[in-house]
Amino acid sequence: MDSFEWNKVFGALLALAFVVLGVNFLADGIFKHGNPETAGFEIPGGEAIAATTATDTGPVVEPIGALLASADLAKGEKVGKKCVACHTFNEGGKNKVGPGLYGIVNRPIAGSDGFGYSSALTAYAADKTWTYEELNGFLYKPKAHVKGTSMGFAGIKKTEDRANMIAYLRSLAAEPAPLPEG
Ligand code: HEC
Repeated sequence: MDSFEWNKVFGALLALAFVVLGVNFLADGIFKHGNPETAGFEIPGGEAIAATTATDTGPVVEPIGALLASADLAKGEKVGKKCVACHTFNEGGKNKVGPGLYGIVNRPIAGSDGFGYSSALTAYAADKTWTYEELNGFLYKPKAHVKGTSMGFAGIKKTEDRANMIAYLRSLAAEPAPLPEG
């Protein structure tokens, strides 16, 4: 080979070297410093699951909206036996350990006059009302839904029981609140 051809060979090698370096450089960028954008953890055999961001609305609770229309009031009243140590259900019923619950659906949260609510519930209330889903979340696990509430009750874990309970609460009114649409 003459020098002209050697030049070509070196030129080709040089080009190859650049390509290899370049690929390495890119690969570094892609794989080695792979800084995952979503924080997560790996479960064996599964995909990385993005960590859910904690909110102060408590755990995700199965909605009861669709169950209300076919709920069983008698069963709801039975579930309600767990409440009567602390709450009254009748019209004009007085506040006991907890506030009277007559007409609670759509009533302003922490809105019973003369009851000494916890500062947690008062702060949570802002100008919210006891919608069906607020009641659903609160009754699932009061202390998770409103951290610091003074309601000493573990909660109603079964979705059907909560639906029956809330349908019963709804019935405790001269004019029960409209059922959710859908
Ligand atoms: C051991 C007593 C106790 C039991 C049992 C109990 N509660 Fe309560 N409840 C309270 C107290 C105390 C409060 C006030 C909470 C606060 O101020 O943080 C409260 C508040 C509430 C509120 C909010 C009222 C408002 O005016 O904002 C609802 C709704 C409620 N309870 C429903 C129920 C239901 C339904 C049950 C039964 C399934 C129940 N509670 C069982 C003590 C109790």
